Amino acid sequence: MNLKDCHNVEDFRKLAKKKLPSPIFHYIDGGSDDEITLKRNTESFNECDLVPNVLTDVSKIDLSTTVLGQKIDFPLFLAATAMHRLYHHHGERATAKAAEKMGTIFGTSTMATTSIEEIGKLTKGPKLFQLYIHRDRGLTDNLIERCKAAGFNSMCLTVDTVVAGNRERDHRTGFSTPPKLTFGSLLSFITHPQWTYNYLTSEKFKLANIIHMTDKGSTIDKSVIDYINEQFDPAMNWKDAEYCVKKWGGPFALKGVMSVEDAKKAIDIGCTAIMISNHGGRQLDGSRAPFDQLAEIVDAVGDKIEVILDGGVRRGTHVLKALALGAKACSFGKGYLFALSAAGEKGVEAILKKMKDEIKRDMILMGCRSVKDLNKSKLRFK
Ligand SMILES: Cc1cc2nc3c(=O)[nH]c(=O)nc-3n(C[C@H](O)[C@H](O)[C@H](O)COP(=O)(O)O)c2cc1C
Repeated sequence: MNLKDCHNVEDFRKLAKKKLPSPIFHYIDGGSDDEITLKRNTESFNECDLVPNVLTDVSKIDLSTTVLGQKIDFPLFLAATAMHRLYHHHGERATAKAAEKMGTIFGTSTMATTSIEEIGKLTKGPKLFQLYIHRDRGLTDNLIERCKAAGFNSMCLTVDTVVAGNRERDHRTGFSTPPKLTFGSLLSFITHPQWTYNYLTSEKFKLANIIHMTDKGSTIDKSVIDYINEQFDPAMNWKDAEYCVKKWGGPFALKGVMSVEDAKKAIDIGCTAIMISNHGGRQLDGSRAPFDQLAEIVDAVGDKIEVILDGGVRRGTHVLKALALGAKACSFGKGYLFALSAAGEKGVEAILKKMKDEIKRDMILMGCRSVKDLNKSKLRFK
């Protein structure tokens, strides 16, 4: 199996599974506790069906949308995810270039392995920085200032990760950052020689954005979970979020909002957008799926704030359904991480192209010329 055999996210997942040592694959693929929310995130899209219109002259289709102040070529972008260097030795450089080529937003994480400055130089495409608030509050100011200097266009603050979710797959596989050869994982590294060779012969693993600020940054010798629990600040509150919105002063999203009440507070503190998200099922298991919660939030606040659907998106039709319920755009994580793991920049470009093609084809089949034509009349719940 190789790149040309990958036609959808699930194909890329299979190829990623072949290419990655198992602790790394399961770090991407897994969720928390019993992974009920992880599964529900995608299954929730099957609760409704699309109702197409015919004979609408769909010879010209406009997939573009404007979100977080950026016009993007199609309504799906790359949610920020940590540590791309683990999945492919070109790391975030590969992901950022693919997003630029495909005309969509590249989200990069506080926990990235390529620095804000390097991403700023590398890509002219729209760039979103994802902020985590550390106990060391100096880091927050430092990260925001650096994003301004590097020409980032927008920022999001992740609010669903004050402690790390219970990812039991990582306990079983012995996942650690940087990866460590343990007796248990040895076989997995030996049986993936290409990944292991690339990992060992290319640039050393580092958390590039925070390496200067914390001695833990470069050499987390346990796991990313321990890092989160030691370094992220559980005292984070609405005042802190408001501080970040003001300090940034540009398009700003709260990522991880799941209730109408919190969506209203996001408006009050001046956010441009909310990302309805449960961190891809990696945090609170048993929490509601973003798609299940979307209509309630859009109906309450959709005319006052941009609503982004994040989580479970694997198909073009998922994006259409979210837009029909009132989302401005969708973002995804695992979908492009599998592709990065499978084939680097070419892989990310390929999955973005496939998703774009699916969205376009689905729009044509729905009789919609523009994303604005998608609305609730196009959906029926079962
Ligand atoms: C391997 C991995 C790492 C992630 N790292 C981060 C992160 O550093 N910051 C963050 O806000 N979200 C992170 N996320 C969550 C994603 O931003 C996004 O919310 C999630 O992947 C969406 O669900 P999906 O994977 O079903 O598309 C991560 C997700 C995965 C799979």
